[in-house]
Amino acid sequence: MSNRYAVILAAGQGTRMKSKLYKVLHPVCGKPMVQHVVDQITKLNIKEIVTVTGHGAEMVQAQLGDSSQYALQDQQLGTAHAVSQAQNILEGKAGVTIVVCGDTPLIRAETMEDLFKHHEELGAKATILTARIEEPTGYGRIIRNADGLVEKIVEHKDASEDERKINEINTGTYCFDNTALFEALKNVSNDNVQGEYYLPDVIEILKKQGEVVTAFQTNEFEETLGVNDRVALAEAERIMRARTNAAHMRNGVTIIDPANTYIETDVEIGQDTVIYPGTMIKGKTVIGSECHIGPNSEIDSCEIGAETVVRQSVAHNSSIGAHVNIGPFAHIRPDSTIKDEVKIGNFVEIKKAVFGKGSKASHLSYIGDAEVGSDVNIGCGSITVNYDGKNKFLTKIEDGVFIGCNSNLVA
Ligand code: UD1
Ligand code: MG
Repeated sequence: MSNRYAVILAAGQGTRMKSKLYKVLHPVCGKPMVQHVVDQITKLNIKEIVTVTGHGAEMVQAQLGDSSQYALQDQQLGTAHAVSQAQNILEGKAGVTIVVCGDTPLIRAETMEDLFKHHEELGAKATILTARIEEPTGYGRIIRNADGLVEKIVEHKDASEDERKINEINTGTYCFDNTALFEALKNVSNDNVQGEYYLPDVIEILKKQGEVVTAFQTNEFEETLGVNDRVALAEAERIMRARTNAAHMRNGVTIIDPANTYIETDVEIGQDTVIYPGTMIKGKTVIGSECHIGPNSEIDSCEIGAETVVRQSVAHNSSIGAHVNIGPFAHIRPDSTIKDEVKIGNFVEIKKAVFGKGSKASHLSYIGDAEVGSDVNIGCGSITVNYDGKNKFLTKIEDGVFIGCNSNLVA
């Protein structure tokens, strides 16, 4: 296997999104599009990853951190110009470079691996990842000669009536021989409808030099969806959600209504857990086996033990044990630790509190900044008075305490 490099294009403003937020930072299933791309790329055996940034460069770098190197594209003169910005880092290095757009969040590592293999086996200088789609409007079209070999790519805006009828499209992902790529980029002109330097023109340049240029057609069109506006963003969200839910179901999780269940991509769920409709599970949440979650619950970045039930409730950044019963209508706020066999009933709010094993707050309570021991019973309407208007104070309740109704426990 040759050395592998990657260039991710992420400098565009994304005019068609009509947004203050830079296009590649728009989230799909809770994670910015460009982060999805980088997460998949890092699964491949890649020596150097370069992300080309421009609009929102600082924010994109803050998002991706040191998982990538960066090249700045001051002015967005087109995708070929964007790749050229990686010249200082990559030019002259022997190997294969994959170029991926930061606005194709659904692309999977497996497909990119297949593209690399196809490219390497054919000894090509360039390989385009293509797909056949029903509605190709907006995409670059693949022009093949009478023998079926790729000749060039024509952008939608530059295409003739006949060329627009072609439904094999450029997905925006390519493999190039790295040295040939940077040589060819020097010959790309901006003589086209948009006055931009098009990366797809590299294909025609290499072809005219007699180099081997191929296409690798994927059947997974959905994976190659390029998000240019919010209609496509919602479409990407729908596809990603269906993919994530299907993976959980194959792993033994029951999802009653997948179309109404929103699980972000880094969530882990144990076998025989049942997720009810209207539930959102976000961040790095880990849920054990045989739990019942939902309906209508929001869980963000929590750890939840086995056989726990969470109904119609909200829980954020907290650790929840096994055999716990939460809800309906409970709110577990950040930094709470709920130990095993606890019961948190309706209209109970917990904030930054430890709840010991087997303790109960069954109705209408606020327990904030508190350490509650094990087997404690907190009666209906009891609250911890934790705030004097300036500072927060800790309430400590030891094991086995019984608190009656309507008690104010001043810290
Ligand atoms: C591009 C391809 C098109 C392909 C489609 C697939 C070109 C000219 N066209 O079109 O053939 O079918 O993707 O989705 O490449 N970017 C920069 N700097 C720039 C311009 C763009 O970094 O100067 C980045 C954008 O942030 C984006 C990516 O490159 O992530 C693609 O740019 P975009 O404007 O979305 O190109 P498309 O019109 O979608
Ligand atoms: Mg695009």
